[in-house]
Parts: sequence; structure tokens; C-alpha cells
Amino acid sequence: MTNLLWSMLALGLASVLWVEIIRDLYHVLAHVWSPVYRLHVWHHRVFRPDLVPTSTEIYRQAHWYNDVPEAIVMLIASLIPWTLSVLAGLKFSWIALVGSVYTMTFLISAIARGLGVPHVDELTDLTHRPGTFTSLPGHWRVNRTYHWKHHFDNQNAYFCGTLTLIDQLLGTSVSLKGKTIAITGASGTLGQALLKELHSAGVKKLIALTSSNASIVLEGVNLETITWQVGQEEALSDLLAKVDILILNHGLNVHQERNAEAIESSYQVNTFSTWRLLELFLSKVKTNKDIACKEVWVNTSEAEVNPAFSPLYELSKRALGDLVTLRRLDAPCVIRKLILGPFKSNLNPIGIMSADWVAKIIVNLACRDVRNIIVTINPLTYLLFPFKEFCVASYFQLTSRGYSIGKQE
Ligand SMILES: NC(=O)c1ccc[n+]([C@@H]2O[C@H](COP(=O)([O-])OP(=O)(O)OC[C@H]3O[C@@H](n4cnc5c(N)ncnc54)[C@H](OP(=O)(O)O)[C@@H]3O)[C@@H](O)[C@H]2O)c1
Repeated sequence: MTNLLWSMLALGLASVLWVEIIRDLYHVLAHVWSPVYRLHVWHHRVFRPDLVPTSTEIYRQAHWYNDVPEAIVMLIASLIPWTLSVLAGLKFSWIALVGSVYTMTFLISAIARGLGVPHVDELTDLTHRPGTFTSLPGHWRVNRTYHWKHHFDNQNAYFCGTLTLIDQLLGTSVSLKGKTIAITGASGTLGQALLKELHSAGVKKLIALTSSNASIVLEGVNLETITWQVGQEEALSDLLAKVDILILNHGLNVHQERNAEAIESSYQVNTFSTWRLLELFLSKVKTNKDIACKEVWVNTSEAEVNPAFSPLYELSKRALGDLVTLRRLDAPCVIRKLILGPFKSNLNPIGIMSADWVAKIIVNLACRDVRNIIVTINPLTYLLFPFKEFCVASYFQLTSRGYSIGKQE
């Protein structure tokens, strides 16, 4: 009996997931096949960047041309799981029609919006409501902030309508095209590898932040070099306002040193300068566009959970990791952690992975909206880090006071 109930539940949920996948694939198709795009383009004509419709007439038309056909395609496709379960001789094949019933709610509400039934848009068109964003782009579920990016960041990304699964699989959950990205530690091994990789990913403007005096030149990569120093982060204030994604990548390893000077430099470089730049960048998140598009990627290291055979490197990187965990409980924009294992660089000449490969995986996973990007050859990190992050974040959440994005300013 229990098995039967579980099987029925699984079939019902699978039929809903199926129609959601169809919705998203139809949307992708609309952007690559002009006959469908001719209908879909109405959806893109409707809204101004503040999500207020350009006109009531266009808003209504858009539902007849886009939302209604989309729901009809979903409805037809919803019969496939039902047909398959009938053919398989399942006693409870009717459960597979849950996806059809679910789709009917979208079809009816799209028709109601097309007819201009009062207030139905407020109740059913939830990802297009105007007003200040009160949450970050959804990670697994599409919210207003996430869907805004499809309209105004990059129409060839962020295709999903309810769940973000298809975007994660396609690598269209985060678009780097046309972005301005600044990276610290830019003259270092990973810094240079990331600059090259981001250039290949279509980033519009790359800013190399370096503490050295030399300009950074990479063949075929257009970039601007800006010099900064630990302790003088405030000097980057105006620049950071113009940056979409800040990658905090600088770091040092004092290896076996444990004197006062080594303690000071490890914490100042690895922990406090990174934290100060993080705070400075977060203070620049002011508009809906900033909440939707600005991001920080912080390179902490797998030393957060594993030994690095360098006590001060571990201590300073763990302190940074914990500060990021605490801060992103209510950060006004997305903060990703880069949890990297040993790669060959000036800092780690005996590292096993190559920085180019690590950079490729980082960019690939960021475009799939992975918020803790783990790249390592150590399988333990893939188990230990998520567990530690969950426990520490839950502890911080329970023992400290939070505030909402809106109350920050
Ligand atoms: N290599 C590994 O195995 C490994 C593993 C996990 C994590 N990581 C992390 O990855 C990041 C990049 O390291 P990497 O391996 O590419 O090493 P790297 O080649 O030594 O690059 C690190 C860069 O950090 C900057 N930096 C160093 N000391 C600084 C200081 N006092 N003030 C300001 N900036 C300073 C320098 O860049 P500028 O001269 O351009 O400022 C330096 O080139 C670091 O955060 C490191 O902890 C490395």
C-alpha cells in the first residue's frame, strides 16, 4: 500500500516536472526559431525595465500570442506521460493527468489575462510584478529578480519559467555576455587564467586589479589594469560601482612561517582586505538591476575544510570562508565561493591541477549558477564542504539577527 502511494506521488510529480520542462524548451525554441519567436516577441514588447507594462493593450495581446500557445503546447505534451502509463498498464495511470490539470491552471489564467479580467494579473503573473526586488535571483525557483534578467540582461539566457533546472543544464542561469568584471590577484596564475577564460566567455570589459606596478598584458585579451594596495581598498570605491562581477582572488601563503609578521600579512591579505573589498562592493548594490546582476566570487580555498599544511593559510582562509558564510545570509547580491584544490601556481608550485583547467570549470559552473564552486581532485571536499557550509550557515542564522535587502540602504 505504501509503495503504491509513493509510486502514485512520484508519477504525479513527474508529470508536473515534465510540463515544466516542456514550457522551458518551448521558450528556448522561441528564441532560436523565428516562426515561434514572432509570437514570443510580444512577451518582450510588453514590459519596461521597471516591469510596468508599456500598454494594457500590448499586455493583453502578449498573452494571446505567447502565454496561451505556450500553455496549449504544455497541455498537449502533458498527454504523453498519461499515454505511456496507459500503455505500460499502470492501474493508476490517471495520476499522470495531474500535469494536465496543473497546465490547465496556466491556460485559464493566460486566457483571463488576455481577456483583461481585473486583478487576475496580480494573482497569476507573479514574475512580472513591478516594485523593488526583495530577494536575490532564485537558485532553484524562478522569481521576479531571475526572470527580469531574461527581459533586460540577456534574452538568450534565463529561459526557465518556474524551476531553473533547464537553465542550469544549458549553462544559461548566469550570462557573462556584456558584463564588466574586475578580478584581484590579476597578475597571478589563476588571475591570468580567469581573465583569458572570461574573455572567451564574451565578457565586455575586463579589469585586472593588481598590487604590482606592471601592466597586465595577455595576448588577444582586451583589458584595463588598475593598481590597488591592501589597506587602500576605499580607493576602488568609484570603480566598483561600475563593476558587475567582482572576483576576489588575491591571496598569499606564508607556508611554514608562524611569526607575528606572517600572522599580520596572512590575515590582512587573505581575510581583511578581501572582506573590505566585499563590503565596499556590496555597498554599491542599490538598484533592482544591481540586485539582479551584480555578483561577487570569493576564492577561499578547500583549506576551509582540509589541511593545506600551512597553519596561517588555513586560519586566514577559514576566517574568510566563515565571514562570507555569515555575510551572504543577507547579502544584497549573489556571493559565490570558489573552493579550489591544489593547482600549479606561484603560490603552490607543486599543485596538481592546471590553472587554465580550474578557470574553465569555474566559469562553466558559475554560468550554471553553482554558488559553491568546488574544483578539486580530493573527493572528501565534495562531501565535507557542503556539510560544513550547511552547519555553519544554519548556526549563524540561528544565533544572529538578519535584515532584508530593502533595509540595507
Ligand atoms: N594554487 C593553489 O593550489 C590554490 C588552491 C586553492 C586556492 N588558491 C587561491 O587562489 C588564489 C590565486 O592564487 P594562485 O594560486 O593563482 O597564486 P599566485 O599566482 O601567487 O597569485 C596570487 C596573487 O595574489 C596577489 N597577491 C599576493 N600577495 C598580495 C598582497 N600582499 N597584496 C595584494 N595582492 C597580493 C598577487 O597578484 P597581484 O600582484 O596582481 O596583486 C598574486 O599574484 C589565491 O587566493 C589562493 O589562495 C590557490
